[in-house]
This record gives sequence, C-alpha cells and structure tokens, in this order.
Amino acid sequence: MREYIDKLYETQSLTREEFFGLLANRSEETDAYAGKLACQVRQREYGDRIFIRGLIEFTNYCKNDCYYCGIRRSNSNVQRYRLNEEDILECCREGYALGFRTFVLQGGEDGYYHEERMVGLIKAIKKEYPDCALTLSVGEKKEEVYRAYREAGADRYLLRHETADEEHYRKLHPKELSGARRKECLKTLKKLGFQTGAGFMVGSPYQTTDTLVEDFLFLKELDPQMVGIGPFISHKDTPFRDEANGILADTLFYLALLRLMLPKVLLPATTALGTIHPRGREMGVLSGANVVMPNLSPVAVRKKYQLYDGKICTGDEASECIGCMKRRMERIGCRIVTDRGDYKG
Ligand code: 5AD
Ligand code: FES
Repeated sequence: MREYIDKLYETQSLTREEFFGLLANRSEETDAYAGKLACQVRQREYGDRIFIRGLIEFTNYCKNDCYYCGIRRSNSNVQRYRLNEEDILECCREGYALGFRTFVLQGGEDGYYHEERMVGLIKAIKKEYPDCALTLSVGEKKEEVYRAYREAGADRYLLRHETADEEHYRKLHPKELSGARRKECLKTLKKLGFQTGAGFMVGSPYQTTDTLVEDFLFLKELDPQMVGIGPFISHKDTPFRDEANGILADTLFYLALLRLMLPKVLLPATTALGTIHPRGREMGVLSGANVVMPNLSPVAVRKKYQLYDGKICTGDEASECIGCMKRRMERIGCRIVTDRGDYKG
C-alpha cells in the first residue's frame, strides 16, 4: 500500500478503488509510513507552528436529536445553559490576554440565538477584536442567514458533514436531517467566502470502509480550508450508549491521509482524540495535525457541554489549559503561536 501513500503524497489524490485499497489493507508499517510523510508535509507547510483556537461553547440547547450526541434534545439529563453576550465577550477578553487570535463560537442549534441576536453578537466581537478571526459552529441555516453572518464579520464556519454516505447519514440521524442538505450548506458556506470546515467522526456506528472512501472523495471535491475529525465516543444518555469508541490508530491514519491529500488544510488534533488517549493530541500533531482548540468556556458550564463521555479539560481554567498545551507541544518539537492562522491557499 506504500505506492498508494506515495501517490497521494505526490498527486494529492487517489481514485475510489485506490482509496479503498489503502483503507482496507493497512499494516503498522504503512500506518507509520503515512504518519511520517504527513508530519513532513506539515513541517514543509507550517514549520513547527501550531495554531490555537479558543473554543467558546455558548449554548447547549439544541433542537436536533442526533443519535450520537450527548446534548441531543431528548437527553433530559442535561442541565441546559446559554451564555449571554457579556459572558461571551468576557471569554474573549480572557482568551485575548492569553494570546488567542481566533474565537470559535460553538453551540447547539438553539432558536434563542436567532439571526438578529447572532448578528449583534458577531458585530460586538469583531468590533472589540478586529484583529481576531471569528469562527462559527452553529449548524445548518438558510443561505440568507449564513450571508448575514458573513456580512456581520464572521470569517470561518465549522460544519462537519459527519458522513458523506447518505445511507450511513440516516443511521446516525433522525429522519428530519439529511446528508444532502448538510453538503449543500457546506457548498453555500464556501461560496459565501467563509473559510469552511467539514469533517467526520472516526469509528461512528455503521461506518465502513466504503463510507470512509466516500468521506475522502467528498473532502477532496469540497476542498475545505479546515477538516475536523476525531474518534466517536459513546455517551451514556444516547441511543449509541453501548457502541464501541473510535480507535486511536485509525484516527491518526486518517489525519495523515488528510494532510497528504490537502497539504495546506487547517487540521485540529481534537479534544476527542485527547480524550481517548492521554497523549492523543500530541500523536495527532505528529500525524499531520496543526491546530489545537483549548476551551475558553467558563469552568462553571464546561461539564454541561458533554457531547461524549469523559471529555478532558472540563475542570481547568483556560490559562491552565493553554500552559498545558504549550508544554505538550514543546515536548514534541512544536510551538504554539499567537496568530490568526488563516488558510493560505
Ligand atoms: N463522539 C465524538 N464526537 C462527537 N460529536 C458529537 N457527538 C460526538 C460523540 N459522541 C462531534 C460531531 C459534531 C462535533 C461538534 O462533535 O462530529 O459535528
Ligand atoms: Fe487542557 Fe491540558 S490541555 S489541561
């Protein structure tokens, strides 16, 4: 399978059959080979620089009922919360002082944060922090709403496609959600000039080699500026409570393939990866990731934003987290930089 890895490195693409061959015939040697090449590509494109994004989980209300997610609307064990504008600006203030120049507003699909309120929030953040990038991660909206957010000053948008295979999508979501609509949203976001992030969970229930091949082909075609992947981790209050978690080695291998396929992509070593292994994020960076996203949410709400069980860093102040991340990155020969870390295409 080395020849497919070499081909991906040289041409940044593979056919459906080649992707299948690569994913179906893995060995420790080929995994290690892909990781080494991907690490070299990250070094070539970004050197030892690792970008940080301050994640602000501003609402855990959600109208959706995705089978994998801990804050799905049917989970009545969740203590729901939302941060107001002043709380959010306070998170930004703290983050700015710690060197963050990107803020990520992530939340469930919460009707309280309708278009007008979001536009006000975006403008307030951009006014106070004109030198910072603002990323939104608030789900599926109409084109006009995305346009309003863009015009208000939002720079980036994260919306994982979850799986590119329609049948698989239906096994992960209730019937009112569709994979086709999700893909449409991603195309719209790109068209509107957002730096756009897609992505999927590794080892989600019913994922197969075929569905993964579709993920890689879809990502190649979409050509997003960011890709977020992390292991699926079961949550005790969801229909997937008894499903197995995603596997570390698989996640690292797919990170490496993504770096080879999209050399300049902004690729986080996710909190979920850090949750399934104490050095998961470091290993992610060594497999090609170049972004980490420490949590800037107030400690008082951290435990309430539990998409999956066992989430790390829920008790740590942002300052402790950033210090910890700095040490972690330095130990593997990298350094965290204070930079917006925009995509340079
Ligand atoms: N395990 C891992 N990742 C999850 N997400 C949601 N629930 C889980 C889970 N149980 C991911 C989804 C979503 C992102 C915000 O978090 O991919 O897009
Ligand atoms: Fe959060 Fe280590 S990164 S405590």
